[in-house]
Amino acid sequence: MFDFFKKLVKPNKFLGCDIGTTSIKMVELERSGSATKLHNYALLETLGHFERSNNVIQANALKLSERETVSLLKTLLRKGKFSADSVVVSIPSFASFTTLIELPDMNPEETKKTMLYQIQEHVPLPLSEITVDWTVVGQREDESGFTKQQILMVAIPNETVERYRGIFKACGLRLRALEVEMLASTRAVIGTDQTPTVVLDIGARSTNITVVDQGFVKHNTQIDYAGDSLTVAIAKGLGINSKRAEELKKQRGLLGGRGEYELSTLEIPFLDVILQEADSVRREYEQNFQNKIQRLMLLGGGANLLGIEKYAEEKLQTPVVLGNGLLYVGAPAELSVVAKELETRFATAIGLAIKGLL
Ligand SMILES: Nc1ncnc2c1ncn2[C@@H]1O[C@H](COP(=O)(O)OP(=O)(O)OP(=O)(O)O)[C@@H](O)[C@H]1O
Ligand SMILES: [Mg+2]
Repeated sequence: MFDFFKKLVKPNKFLGCDIGTTSIKMVELERSGSATKLHNYALLETLGHFERSNNVIQANALKLSERETVSLLKTLLRKGKFSADSVVVSIPSFASFTTLIELPDMNPEETKKTMLYQIQEHVPLPLSEITVDWTVVGQREDESGFTKQQILMVAIPNETVERYRGIFKACGLRLRALEVEMLASTRAVIGTDQTPTVVLDIGARSTNITVVDQGFVKHNTQIDYAGDSLTVAIAKGLGINSKRAEELKKQRGLLGGRGEYELSTLEIPFLDVILQEADSVRREYEQNFQNKIQRLMLLGGGANLLGIEKYAEEKLQTPVVLGNGLLYVGAPAELSVVAKELETRFATAIGLAIKGLL
């Protein structure tokens, strides 16, 4: 998506950069022959957002603080000792317009013309102010027996594209493409797997819910409940500061032992909101597309919450698995200690770098 350098010869090393609301993740992948290997990775995390709510890297109002992001990226690049100079970067879902459009079966020329109208209908900005990409992601027979082609349309404001270009130029990197985050993460954890799956990416500030079916993204929504909601609930409930609450959450998760019962009772109402939303996306998809979702896949930092798989499985009565960002990528053995975090938290960054190498 949004490939700026389609015709250039691609380097064999690529960076993938995922700018989240409270952290930046960078990976470097290297291709040799048909194998892709993780070469290097780095994470830069801010905790300041708990104390000052405007101290986030990226706020929901599409405001990416440029100067600060450049300075954070420079630190990350210096400390991470990355050697590639080409990067693919993620756009958060909330900064894009993503819709599944169903059109009658028609030839590519007609489809193109019809899409122009559809785009104007679905995006509240003039065509001259957006960059649009769309892909046919499947087809189905509707209730009246007509074949419909399904088209995933993604649009981002040109202003956003320019902002990202400026940021990466200032860091001395070549921005080769931008891609909406769930397209990148699902490339890394699902690839061409055909299983109808709901992917739940639980970040710090937002949770992304994506339906992937036959290897294609069919639906995507976000909600504002995520990992931080649990931390804030613990902090308030126990009257402790956010840093301590964050530590407790990571140490105990939902598995508090004797005397820690309270921890999970504080977390669960917020986790339930997230799971209920995933459940309603699942139901709606199953109803509209007559295809049963077979599993829930957890991604993002929130997927590391101890006990979440078992809890979600019981709550939703669906098999729950952890996403594996290293599914199609080899990693050096010494990384096995941090493997779980790499697999769940770095999936988007890995998917972005894979795209660069394609
Ligand atoms: N071991 C753990 N147990 C529970 N929660 C964890 C653990 N590790 C990380 N988290 C939580 O994951 C969240 C961060 O996840 P992630 O890095 O995916 O977010 P982000 O990409 O920066 O944010 P967003 O996706 O909202 O922009 C934080 O809320 C953090 O507390
Ligand atoms: Mg994220």
